[in-house]
Amino acid sequence: MCGSKRVWVSELIFILLVVKGWWSEGCLEQERSALLQLRHFFNDDRFLQNWVDDEYYSDCCQWKQVECNDTTGRVIELDLALTRNWKSAEWYMNASLFTPFEQLESLDLIGNNIAGCVENEGLDRLSRLNNLKFLYLSFNYFNNSIFSSLCGLSSLRHLSLAVNRLNGSVDIKGLNSLSNLEELDMKYNAIDNLVVPKDYRGLRKLNTLRLGGTDIAMIDGSKVLQSIGSLPSLKTLYLLYTNFTGTVVNQGK
Ligand SMILES: *[C@@H]1O[C@H](CO)[C@@H](O)[C@H](O)[C@H]1NC(C)=O
Ligand SMILES: *[C@@H]1O[C@H](CO)[C@@H](O)[C@H](O)[C@H]1NC(C)=O
Ligand SMILES: *[C@@H]1O[C@H](CO)[C@@H](O)[C@H](O)[C@H]1NC(C)=O
Ligand SMILES: *[C@@H]1O[C@H](CO)[C@@H](O)[C@H](O)[C@H]1NC(C)=O
Ligand SMILES: *[C@@H]1O[C@H](CO)[C@@H](O)[C@H](O)[C@H]1NC(C)=O
Repeated sequence: MCGSKRVWVSELIFILLVVKGWWSEGCLEQERSALLQLRHFFNDDRFLQNWVDDEYYSDCCQWKQVECNDTTGRVIELDLALTRNWKSAEWYMNASLFTPFEQLESLDLIGNNIAGCVENEGLDRLSRLNNLKFLYLSFNYFNNSIFSSLCGLSSLRHLSLAVNRLNGSVDIKGLNSLSNLEELDMKYNAIDNLVVPKDYRGLRKLNTLRLGGTDIAMIDGSKVLQSIGSLPSLKTLYLLYTNFTGTVVNQGK
């Protein structure tokens, strides 16, 4: 009786060790430490409280707002929307903080007071992430200079820049390198015109475009309708706060 109990206890200890081993191997050490580094910037304690440097809870795949691939244990999704303390000032992000997540597919940075990136650490750093398909940057303070920092992000399918500080006339040529982009959301900015050159060859896969802004910066709908003819895959166009001046020419599209 006593002997079998000892066997049972040692089996239990063995199982616990196996479970612990499996648990701590859940996520890559380099990704775990990269997340702990991000924690300094995404500092609203309500959301990331279990991102801690604790050996008993070291599997970062179990952490809130982090999603891993079950097979590889690599981080594939980071949902950091509204995770920066709202009272903290506008800040300039270092995009290199995300490059350790080599398999990342989706990055959500909505509503984090981001005014841009620090010098030489712009969003183009994310071009190393060959699987990155979804980038959500709405409700931040990006201005038109973001367009020049998006180069190389050719894996992106969906980019959202709604409710930022984009303004004036936006030349779509700035988005040329986003060759796989299917959905672009720039609504609720102060953009009043979108320029698409007649012989434009970029954004061949764009099927959904959301534009339009505020009553202080109305889009001239007729101009936009004329220029979007150069986007061959476009199926859905949202135009908020739009006025139509002149006549719209039906080109049979
Ligand atoms: C996880 O990664 C493996 C290997 O790269 C891949 O085959 C699989 O489709 C991925 N699973 C998910 C759910 O993404
Ligand atoms: C940005 O982050 C990377 C990776 O952590 C670091 O090597 C680099 O020094 C940082 N750059 C700035 C300007 O802080
Ligand atoms: C636009 O954003 C950049 C940072 O990305 C900043 O350096 C620049 O001052 C901003 N421009 C204006 C006019 O606010
Ligand atoms: C866009 O915003 C910047 C900074 O606020 C300003 O300097 C510039 O004149 C604006 N451009 C247009 C076309 O409204
Ligand atoms: C329509 O929008 C254009 C461009 O912003 C502006 O110049 C024009 O005055 C607007 N027209 C009306 C009737 O609001």
